[in-house]
Amino acid sequence: MKKLMYVSVLALFLFACNSSSNNDNNNTADDTTTASTDQAADANANPSYDPNRGEGKFTHVDISPNLDKAKAEAGKKIYEVKCSACHKLTDERLVGPGWKGVTKRQTAEWIMNFVTNTDAMISKDPKAQAMLEICLVRMPNQNLSDEDARNVYEFMRENDGVK
Ligand code: HEC
Repeated sequence: MKKLMYVSVLALFLFACNSSSNNDNNNTADDTTTASTDQAADANANPSYDPNRGEGKFTHVDISPNLDKAKAEAGKKIYEVKCSACHKLTDERLVGPGWKGVTKRQTAEWIMNFVTNTDAMISKDPKAQAMLEICLVRMPNQNLSDEDARNVYEFMRENDGVK
């Protein structure tokens, strides 16, 4: 009997530790939210906004005239997992615009900045805001690495007929 009590006290103690570490996790999540809001505010404070490039770290994307098949293949996998729920490969809208022709509508820099800095771009880019008015849904940040973004861009080029 004594042993049983000991075990249940121990269990309570463990539970308490657990819930306090959950709180820590929540705090971390809050910090992340604050950081991304700050980023959006910085974007708004920038007076020299270039609508062809968008807002973000990409100022020049190197593109060869021919398709980089390995990148396009990697980009296709990302598309299937993270983008296909909202984007078709035709010109038809699903939740977001269809991707047919997207590499003609937007520059490589604009697309790569949009997909890696989505919140800030939707808050200030005229083309992104016009899309938001039609789609009525704000594209959520997809947490793509720079490499993911480049690969998805190559897949978009393939979808637009680059060989
Ligand atoms: C939950 C739905 C959703 C998901 C998932 C999503 N998007 Fe979007 N996307 C949108 C919406 C909606 C827009 C239009 C802009 C807006 O309203 O936010 C958009 C716009 C875009 C545009 C601009 C299109 C144009 O015609 O100029 C690009 C590029 C884009 N998304 C890329 C991506 C990539 C890459 C992924 C996957 C990694 C992705 N999106 C995942 C909803 C989504």
